[in-house]
Amino acid sequence: MLLITNLITIAYSENAEKELSIGESFHYETTLTWRGVLGDLFRIKPEKPPQYKNYTDTMTIKLPKPENQGITLEEAIKKRRSVRNYSGKPVTMSQLSQLVFSAQGTTGKTYDHPLRTTPSAGALYPFEIYVIANNVDTLDQGIYHYGVLNHTLELVESGDFRKEITSAGLKQEMLGDSDVVFVLSAIFDRTRHKYGERGFRYVYIEAGHISQNISLQAVSLGLGSVSVGAFLDNEVNQLIGVDGQKEAVIYLHAVGTL
Ligand SMILES: Cc1cc2nc3c(=O)[nH]c(=O)nc-3n(C[C@H](O)[C@H](O)[C@H](O)COP(=O)(O)O)c2cc1C
Repeated sequence: MLLITNLITIAYSENAEKELSIGESFHYETTLTWRGVLGDLFRIKPEKPPQYKNYTDTMTIKLPKPENQGITLEEAIKKRRSVRNYSGKPVTMSQLSQLVFSAQGTTGKTYDHPLRTTPSAGALYPFEIYVIANNVDTLDQGIYHYGVLNHTLELVESGDFRKEITSAGLKQEMLGDSDVVFVLSAIFDRTRHKYGERGFRYVYIEAGHISQNISLQAVSLGLGSVSVGAFLDNEVNQLIGVDGQKEAVIYLHAVGTL
């Protein structure tokens, strides 16, 4: 009896002294301190991956110019709400063009480096945007990649992926019911090669900027949308064809007509 009591006491005290949880460690290990900043100078960082990813040898669709003139920003902020029920009417190509532009379109240049609609640490832009087209008026169903520089969609795989994205999204029906699901996928080393492990935090922060832009843009277009963080990572990674390590899906955003 004494032995069992001792074992329980040891188990509990070990638990109490257990180092940080994974989440706490992540935060701790990516906390900036002067010592860390200096240490980082000597740490080997990964090679810089290419700034742009493109799907060549595939059907490429030029999107219409994003020229929507919607409601005021103040109205959009006030009206924004997560919407999970959609009418089933398709979104138009012009709406899709405006949405994907708001996510990561180019809006200017510094020296010769294109800048985008969202802020990005060091202007390194780690995100790739994939579009799962469920119901777009003149676009075949399929998975597309956004070509940032030319404002194009590059076909990754054609077909109806409504079941797959719903199942990968823990059966959240709105993913299959929506007209478009934006998949925000990050190439970590674009940011990490400069900022080291702190770069991971920047990547997650940037996902929020992109999703917020889509959200407010959807309101301005009279559409409904919802950000989705609950999904089976590996299933969504597989769906868009990324390895989940060098490039991984961070966030989803479903949009549909009201
Ligand atoms: C990081 C994050 C993850 C989220 N994940 C989901 C999700 O998986 N499914 C969902 O229906 N809503 C999701 N939401 C939406 C929230 O439920 C919603 O923003 C919250 O209930 C507040 O409502 P509102 O957006 O209408 O103001 C998420 C929101 C954030 C910011």
